Amino acid sequence: MAEIFEKPPETGGRYEPLGTAELLDHDKRSLRLKAGSAAVEVTALAPDLFRVGMFPEGRTPRYDSEAIAKEDWESVEVFMEQSGDEVTLSTTAAIARVFLNPLRVRFTDASGRGFAADDEELGMGTVVTPDADVFSEPLGSPVRLYKWREIGERYFGCGERTSGLEKTGTYQVFWNVDPPLGHTASYNNLYTSIPFTLSMTNGKAYGLLFDNTHRVEFDLASENPERAYYGAEGGDLVYYVFCGPTPRDVVDRYTELTGRIPMPPLWSLGNQQCRYSYMDEGEVREVARGFREHYIPCDVIYLDIHYMDGYRVFTWNEERFPEPEKLISELREQGFRVVTIVDPGVKVDENYPVYTEGRRRNLFCKTSEGEEYHNVVWPGMCAFPDFTNPETREWWGENHRTLLDKGVAGIWCDMNEPSLFVPRQSTMPGDVVHPGGQSGEAKLHAQIHNTYGSLEACAVREGLLKLRPDERPFVITRAGYAGLQRHALQWTGDNSSWWEHLWMSMPQLQNLGLSGVAWAGVDVGGFWGDANGELLARFTEFGIFQPFCRNHTALGTRRQEPWAFGEPYESVCREMIKLRQRLLPYLYALFEECHRTGAPILRPLLFEHPEDETTYAMDDEFLLGTALLVAPITRPGIEHRHVYLPEGTWFHFWTGERFEGPAHILAYAPLGEPAIYIKANTTLPLWPEMNHVGERPADPLTLRFHPAEGSGEATLYEDAGDGFGYERGEYAKRRVVCEVLGGSISVRLEEREGSFAPERESVYLELRGVNTRPETVSVNGEAADWGYEEEDGKITVRLTDHVGETNVEVRIQSTGPDLPPA
Ligand code: GLC
Repeated sequence: MAEIFEKPPETGGRYEPLGTAELLDHDKRSLRLKAGSAAVEVTALAPDLFRVGMFPEGRTPRYDSEAIAKEDWESVEVFMEQSGDEVTLSTTAAIARVFLNPLRVRFTDASGRGFAADDEELGMGTVVTPDADVFSEPLGSPVRLYKWREIGERYFGCGERTSGLEKTGTYQVFWNVDPPLGHTASYNNLYTSIPFTLSMTNGKAYGLLFDNTHRVEFDLASENPERAYYGAEGGDLVYYVFCGPTPRDVVDRYTELTGRIPMPPLWSLGNQQCRYSYMDEGEVREVARGFREHYIPCDVIYLDIHYMDGYRVFTWNEERFPEPEKLISELREQGFRVVTIVDPGVKVDENYPVYTEGRRRNLFCKTSEGEEYHNVVWPGMCAFPDFTNPETREWWGENHRTLLDKGVAGIWCDMNEPSLFVPRQSTMPGDVVHPGGQSGEAKLHAQIHNTYGSLEACAVREGLLKLRPDERPFVITRAGYAGLQRHALQWTGDNSSWWEHLWMSMPQLQNLGLSGVAWAGVDVGGFWGDANGELLARFTEFGIFQPFCRNHTALGTRRQEPWAFGEPYESVCREMIKLRQRLLPYLYALFEECHRTGAPILRPLLFEHPEDETTYAMDDEFLLGTALLVAPITRPGIEHRHVYLPEGTWFHFWTGERFEGPAHILAYAPLGEPAIYIKANTTLPLWPEMNHVGERPADPLTLRFHPAEGSGEATLYEDAGDGFGYERGEYAKRRVVCEVLGGSISVRLEEREGSFAPERESVYLELRGVNTRPETVSVNGEAADWGYEEEDGKITVRLTDHVGETNVEVRIQSTGPDLPPA
């Protein structure tokens, strides 16, 4: 097992840099070079995005990859120049400098900042093993790229890593596994592989995607503090450099290249409940009833593997679930959607049509001898779909009809590393063959391993789109490769009901967010082992801020539904989950921003404050969008914790206390009052309480503000919540600007963009922390319907007649002292 996580033993191979290169030719955006037997290309895809490809042993350059969503780039203005041994490729934003003798590539931006420079001595090259016949070796030689570490350069990203936020000084493996010993901070490698780093130097960012689907390793200045290397077991060396200079710029371009999250169905932002397993219809009904009886919002209930007949995918267990259609439609009436698990292993069984059809159509993976490859998973001996084959993907998608026909709302793709039981929690041997089908090409598992999960998720998303073209697919995946965000959300697999894992969730999700996978979540309460009331309550205080909020636990563990541990924990979970439900309009606007720009929903502080290096160490607090900062308690028996508030004015969510950042503060956060801070002058849109999305109209919409001298803004976003009308302009986007100057506060709801008209009678503006009763409150110059609660300094303005108006300006004026406390 150790080899999965540790550096491979020295194989006796010798690293050989490419040496001298010669410029062969160029076109409008690319340089083509030759270095020994390798072909090298350097291309400007966009002003701030470069691609470098090195193709050993005379292989033809190619860049198609599961990571890449965008292959055709608009033309870009590029200026090329050769002077002696140096060739430059300049855009309006950056320059790629290529030195020919020996071949080295480095980058600078328009401000002169240098980054991603090849190490002077080592550059790019291959690991050569004496006597190996590289031409007959299917993987070719290992490839490596050595980059100079800029002075002060710090590395982030790398996907779902369990240890902290920062990756400087670490060795990272990218090889999807179902970790045999569970998650711990020292295992740097889990179910997904996103070989991408975001680097920060003096507050400026650049990103590097090392696009190779073999086993990949990064040494981020661990072996030598002055350099990093990026290597793969075989294949070509292809990497992309995102010039920044802000983390937002990097993630924006990175997700333009690798794809962005689709718009989610609105219901999938609600609270979700799972267990391995709710064993039969009766138990599922009881859990649903539990939520409604305890007044705890919930939108989704999951069916884990026991709903199937002997774990055969795309079947129903007739004893446990005799009438799935009836069950699902009853639950739907109560406001629940049902999501079912699907594993890739197909039981080898002559009487099971999914297997016999897959075999007949030659859609499974093969051994090197050409037999069907088999291994054991839940159903016993299984065959495994070759998802590299487009025909397999189509077939797999189509098979979901048996679930969708019964009313299933979404699909949960598990075990798709793939995880195998022989040996325990292993994966396919590298020499298993993916035949690829008639239009594809055969590949060894070692060449494409990290993409297996993404290809399955792609098949499911496409399948769901075909089966229900008017609905937004809801697909979850455990495994995947860079770009997986365009197919599915990622949940992070089997954590444990440990305090350490509550802590770990935060760097994990922040790392994912920086790596394009913004729609993600961990099992709330922890999967393995028994939770306890305090842990579940604290986990829920954190969990409601995850883009994907689902409570899940393993077979044989204690019940873990939000009411399972009685009071005071049940009330804490209830209030937290209600808060999540009220926050949905805020979250939904963040999803829309992410869908458009890739900006993480749950984001590290450094994303918004890259110039402030103190934020780089803030593993266990995060921002949800720009308006909320959340700092969960992650130890038992504790009510206080340190919080770092970055620059700006912040208000404590529960007490309204005001803080000026940057500041280190000690927060008091008793159970039920986690440390949450709202940024001044931005708005937090809140729905009224409801048990599930669609229970009643989202009316009134409350816009909560904490005004302070200065100004701020936010964007509201609404659409039909499902379907694709938003692509045709059926959405409502509205900028909300709040300005505070001395004795006056103005709130402007600007003209709505888009043709969607939310059904609503009232919008309430709720301004907190205003210590004097204002003299006048007007809406578009006329007297407003408003109130003031002296005790907590709250002004409420009811916009009823003005809801439909294009521009609404609310002015709150005092002739006396300043309105919010100075
Ligand atoms: C895997 C999944 C887990 C699921 C279980 C049974 O361990 O990660 O979430 O409950 O399989 O299907």
